[in-house]
Amino acid sequence: MKKLALTFCLMLAFAVSTALAAEDGKALYAKCSSCHGADGSKAVMSKALKGQSAEAIVKAMQGYKAKTYGGSKKAGMENIASRMTDEQFKALGGYISKL
Ligand code: HEC
Repeated sequence: MKKLALTFCLMLAFAVSTALAAEDGKALYAKCSSCHGADGSKAVMSKALKGQSAEAIVKAMQGYKAKTYGGSKKAGMENIASRMTDEQFKALGGYISKL
């Protein structure tokens, strides 16, 4: 019985943390929608954010932060990414990949 309760608690904690991460991503995306569109469908580069995987978003954001990624208009994204954390990139990736 104790084991069951523990498993339940862990599942609950996982569900809550995933829900929080999703919420976080949505709140963070408010800073991005003016350029990328409310649903990520505005193509500012060769392709829109909509339809990209969470991994691709995280990689691009990390790349902008490290100044190893981007095209001719990367300065703005470098500035945005430089003030964000890996956790925030992951939350954004999770949210954007489901748009
Ligand atoms: C002021 C407008 C603006 C805002 C705000 C903005 N972006 Fe961007 N974003 C751009 C532009 C322009 C590019 C293309 C930059 C380049 O040439 O590399 C871009 C590129 C990207 C890319 C790379 C796309 C690809 O296909 O490689 C990602 C990922 C991205 N933005 C995510 C975000 C996220 C997440 C936010 C919010 C935290 C955000 N952007 C906010 C204008 C913006």
